[in-house]
Amino acid sequence: MNPSLNKRLLVIWSLSLSATLAQAQVSVPIPAFTPYTQQCNVCHLAYPPGMLPAGSWKKLMEAMPPHFTAQVMVNVDTQEEISNWLQAHAGTYALVAEEPPQHRITRSAWWTQIHKESKKVPAAVWKKASVSQGAQCVTCHANAAKGEFNAKTVQVPK
Ligand code: HEC
Ligand code: HEC
Repeated sequence: MNPSLNKRLLVIWSLSLSATLAQAQVSVPIPAFTPYTQQCNVCHLAYPPGMLPAGSWKKLMEAMPPHFTAQVMVNVDTQEEISNWLQAHAGTYALVAEEPPQHRITRSAWWTQIHKESKKVPAAVWKKASVSQGAQCVTCHANAAKGEFNAKTVQVPK
């Protein structure tokens, strides 16, 4: 990991994602919206909406029921409601300006830069079912549901 890049990312994150980054931790707001947490916190974390641009949320939501290796059945009105809400709360800053491949947070340049294969996280870890190439944030970031992503409290499974 390139420490200066990490620092720069953190500065950008802290400036754009959280007005209250008092401690040395990354805090990414996950605003409350019940339909989103009910429908999208089932198979993985209800990801912070600011981690993808509006276009990615729109396309992911429009594609449903097919959704990666899953089928996500949501009532049509709810699907539209969630889609609109995600687009309204999407990231608008430079780090997430571009739609990442497959509209995956885990394929974004900033994300892969932070989560490079390393001594701390060897290649085999990313393949574990509980990690799912990174999509299961909570496995390593226990407080991810509160929007807390802190390099200091990361717990990498053995
Ligand atoms: C039935 C299970 C299921 C539900 C419910 C579900 N997803 Fe997913 N989601 C998946 C799978 C499977 C993946 C692919 C990642 C993986 O294989 O773990 C995924 C991946 C994602 C990703 C990309 C994660 C990455 O790699 O960066 C986003 C964004 C996402 N889902 C959004 C949503 C939204 C929004 C909802 C609610 C409308 C939702 N998901 C509901 C199963 C689900
Ligand atoms: C296999 C474990 C693992 C998973 C899964 C994982 N991370 Fe991380 N994450 C890490 C590690 C390790 C670091 C610290 C990297 C370092 O020390 O430079 C980190 C750091 C971060 C940081 C920077 C925090 C800081 O204080 O520098 C963010 C933001 C982050 N992860 C977001 C996510 C998101 C969002 C997901 C899910 C889409 C996720 N992570 C999934 C292991 C993981």
